[in-house]
Amino acid sequence: METRIAEVADGIYQTTTHVEEANFSFNQYLITGEQPMLFHTGGRAFFPLVSEQVATVMPVDSLRWVTFGHVESDESGSMNQWLAAAPQAQVVHGALGCEVSINDYADRTPRPLSEGEVLDIGGRRMRWISTPHVPHGWEAGVFFDETTRTLFCGDLLTHVGDGPPLTDDDILGPALEAERMFRAMTLAPGTAAILRGLAELKPQTLAVMHGSSLRGDGAAALEGLASFCEREAAALS
Ligand SMILES: [Fe+2]
Ligand SMILES: [Fe+2]
Repeated sequence: METRIAEVADGIYQTTTHVEEANFSFNQYLITGEQPMLFHTGGRAFFPLVSEQVATVMPVDSLRWVTFGHVESDESGSMNQWLAAAPQAQVVHGALGCEVSINDYADRTPRPLSEGEVLDIGGRRMRWISTPHVPHGWEAGVFFDETTRTLFCGDLLTHVGDGPPLTDDDILGPALEAERMFRAMTLAPGTAAILRGLAELKPQTLAVMHGSSLRGDGAAALEGLASFCEREAAALS
């Protein structure tokens, strides 16, 4: 496996590892600032590959924040390897995620954030937004970089293939195709409303975890996903 790196928004670097056998990619995001942040750690086996690419942008031991949307191996599996590599680094997550899992999983005490709290990482304001059970996981949430209007939306709009780091093409169609295949999203009564709340942020870039990130009308893609979830939930009831 090989990991590549690309700048997808101002000072935001995407590392991508494409797993050929699965035709599936895993992205992490290095968000630069006075206090650099990593969104998604990758699984434990990914650590050497991802950290090698991060080191092409900045020394790995200068990382200050390690974060992810929810607790799952691809999102958070290597958190303790990052904490070991960067002595000043701390996991930051919503308070619920800290209480339920991360206080125990992380080798150092995490920093909990309340709903809507902004973490200023120096030249960049990162807002924590809880999205319980969306796409999955009680503790789920996203970060919104208010400075570049980039939404770190994790598994939302997952699609397969080995596309470019960033696209202005439609990713909703491929994402709905992938969702019909994987059924990774929780179709709870509040799912569509949570997605529409994210659409209201009018993100300029959607930093996607699996597939190409989107530069363009992020709100339309999130609205489309919300409508799909509504239709699917109705069909199941
Ligand atoms: Fe996930
Ligand atoms: Fe994921």
